[in-house]
Amino acid sequence: MRAHEAGWAHAEGARGPAWLREPADTNALVQHLWSATAHKTDGDLHVGGMAVADVVAEHNTPAYLLDEVDFRQRARAFREAFSDFDVYYAGKAFLCTTVARWVTEEGLRLDVCSDGELTVALRAGVDPARIGYHGNNKSMIELRRAVATGVGRIIVDSFHEIARLRTITAETGLDARVMVRVTAGVEAHTHEYIATAHEDQKFGFSITNGDAFDAVRAVTGAPGLQLLGLHSHIGSQIFDSSGFEVAARRVLALHARISEELGVEMPEMDLGGGFGIAYTTQDDPSEPAQLATELTKIVEHECRALAVAVPHLSIEPGRAIVGPAMCTVYTVGTVKKVALDGGVSRTYVSVDGGMSDNIRTALYDADYSCTLASRASSAPAVLARVVGKHCEAGDIVVKDEFLPSDVAPGDLLAVPGTGAYCRSMASNYNHALRPPVIAVRDGVARVVVRRETEDDLLSTDVGADQ
Ligand code: LLP
Repeated sequence: MRAHEAGWAHAEGARGPAWLREPADTNALVQHLWSATAHKTDGDLHVGGMAVADVVAEHNTPAYLLDEVDFRQRARAFREAFSDFDVYYAGKAFLCTTVARWVTEEGLRLDVCSDGELTVALRAGVDPARIGYHGNNKSMIELRRAVATGVGRIIVDSFHEIARLRTITAETGLDARVMVRVTAGVEAHTHEYIATAHEDQKFGFSITNGDAFDAVRAVTGAPGLQLLGLHSHIGSQIFDSSGFEVAARRVLALHARISEELGVEMPEMDLGGGFGIAYTTQDDPSEPAQLATELTKIVEHECRALAVAVPHLSIEPGRAIVGPAMCTVYTVGTVKKVALDGGVSRTYVSVDGGMSDNIRTALYDADYSCTLASRASSAPAVLARVVGKHCEAGDIVVKDEFLPSDVAPGDLLAVPGTGAYCRSMASNYNHALRPPVIAVRDGVARVVVRRETEDDLLSTDVGADQ
């Protein structure tokens, strides 16, 4: 993870982290952090042709607004830039039946990593042959279902799983198409990657200790298993292709060794997901076209050096498609100025959601930005911290942002870039009702995931009706 920012009462003064610049106008959107159709008119944020305040008037807050045009544009941009690849949308970032259908309509495939995600995909009518199934601990029940429904590829992650699939295919007479998840010994985050040191995690078969080679041999020795190729995913929120380069070199070296020593030609290879997005002004992501060019170049170069045919490639972007397509809208409930050492103060703006709808700030020290969404203000900027309403001091949504100093109860705040891993990791902490996802497009708002109700909350509480 990135090092922590300089503290609030840093020698430079109460200006927040070093990367955060005070905007000339707090009303202005930093456009590239927002979805394609987001803009402000007289201080009112609009998304998908709807004034956010109007959506809120009908659907209340907190709410996730999903810009359908933006989602489709990003999906299409990956599809077109990676036209020689198969592109699997990583459903773990955010999945519901509507989004699964959009993904299919835009020509993408779908990566699921649990029985629940598979259920959503199948309910949406996604062709099972276009589904990839991940997970490091798939049960017999899950694998049976995956094989029976004809999932296009199962990415195996342990010898136990290979044995389970062997049993299932022998019992049913069905085939399973398999990729072997390998650990390339590379873990990449934001602006850096570290090679060699990251074998110590639960995913994948190690290339270094020979497990990956043995796993391939085990798959090829199982009559019902059809080996498609190797799979490598090196991390998330990556901006630098050098991590992919090191991983590709290692995975392709194994690919070539398997061809030479086992005489097995694997037709495919997956390079995983992890392409970074801009959460704040400090992030500078690449366009899909640039990523495609870089990844293709890396693989072709390595294949030439190894004298092997270039396998059919696939990728699995999640965040880069859905992340920027959503924003979360909250209502301000309280504002509080807290004195800090050195004669400075911090303005705490409490909103009606928090770590139950966005755990990423607390969990990963993630940075977000936000804007006043329901009016223009000419008040001077104040450095604020946006916090939730949960009973926990770490319940922070936006650590540092300049907001107009007259921010007040009743104002709407919107946080961009919340499409990935926010609703999908949302919880009922403090018995919060998880917010709806509202798709907005051409002036129409459509609830695609409704807000939870108290009945939903109580539905699993068996004592509730006694
Ligand atoms: N493929 C595999 C095998 C993965 O494990 C993941 C993410 C992806 C694709 C998609 O990665 P993306 O393009 O969305 O970065 N909860 C964390 C991220 C966990 C990612 C897990 N795997 C977060 O909120 O940052």
